[in-house]
Amino acid sequence: MLLKINDLNVSYGAIHAVRGISFEVEEGSIVTLIGANGAGKSTTLKAIAGLLAPESGTIEYCGENIAGMDATDIVKKGITLVPEGRRIFSDLSVLENIKIGAYLRKDDLTEDIETVYSLFPILKERNWQQAGTLSGGEQQMLAVGRALMSKPKLIMMDEPSLGLSPIYVKNIFDIIRKISSTGVTILLIEQNANMALKIADRAYVLETGLITMEGTGQELLENQKVRDAYLGH
Ligand SMILES: Nc1ncnc2c1ncn2[C@@H]1O[C@H](COP(=O)(O)OP(=O)(O)OP(=O)(O)O)[C@@H](O)[C@H]1O
Ligand SMILES: [Mg+2]
Repeated sequence: MLLKINDLNVSYGAIHAVRGISFEVEEGSIVTLIGANGAGKSTTLKAIAGLLAPESGTIEYCGENIAGMDATDIVKKGITLVPEGRRIFSDLSVLENIKIGAYLRKDDLTEDIETVYSLFPILKERNWQQAGTLSGGEQQMLAVGRALMSKPKLIMMDEPSLGLSPIYVKNIFDIIRKISSTGVTILLIEQNANMALKIADRAYVLETGLITMEGTGQELLENQKVRDAYLGH
C-alpha cells in the first residue's frame, strides 16, 4: 500500500475537523474522497501534505510514518498537493510558475516541461503570458502542471474542477486519467462526485470528519444513499 491513514485526528483549536479516519491508497490507483462542505476533505489532504500537524494517528507512506513531518520533506518524498483555489503566482509568467514546481530539483527540467506542455498545449502557447491573465480553466491546468514538475509518486488534487465550465471539467478529468496512466497515484477531492466516482478505483465518503461509506467508485455510484446525498438522484 502506498499510503495508509490510520485513526487520523486533526483539529483547529476546539474544532475537531477530522475524527479518527482510516483509509488506504494503493499504488497506481485513483482514490477519491467525497463529502459535503466542511466534511474535513481539505483538512485531510493538508495533514498528509504536512501543512497541518495531526493531533494523533499515523500517515504511513511507503511504510514510513510521515505524520507531522515538514511539508518540504514530504514533497521530497514524492507527495504533492494541488491546493483548493489554484494558488498560482499571478505576476509570474506561465513558464516561471511551472518551474517553481521543481524548486527542490537540481536536475534538467527540459523533458518534464515538455511533458507538461504536451498535456496542456494551451500553456505552451501562453508560455510568456502573466499567469494572472489566464482564464480560470487555464490557471487550473497550470496548477496541475506545476505540481507534476516535482515528479510526484502521489498527487493530491483538491477540487480541480471547481468553477470550471463543463468543457474544462471534462478536460481536467481526461488529464487526471492521463496522469494516472503514467503510473502516478492520485488522491482526488471533488464536488463533482459523479465524475470522480466514475474514474475512481476506490472511494470514501466523509461526513463531519468521519468516514461513513467506502467501496469501489462503481459501488458508490450505484449506492442509493450516495445517489440521494451527493448525486442528486
Ligand atoms: N483554519 C481553520 N480554522 C478553523 N476551522 C477550520 C479551518 N479550516 C477549516 N476549518 C473547519 O474544519 C472543518 C473542515 O474543513 P475542510 O476545509 O477540511 O472541509 P472540506 O470538506 O474541504 O469542505 P469544502 O467542500 O467546503 O471545501 C470545517 O468545519 C471548517 O470550518
Ligand atoms: Mg475543501
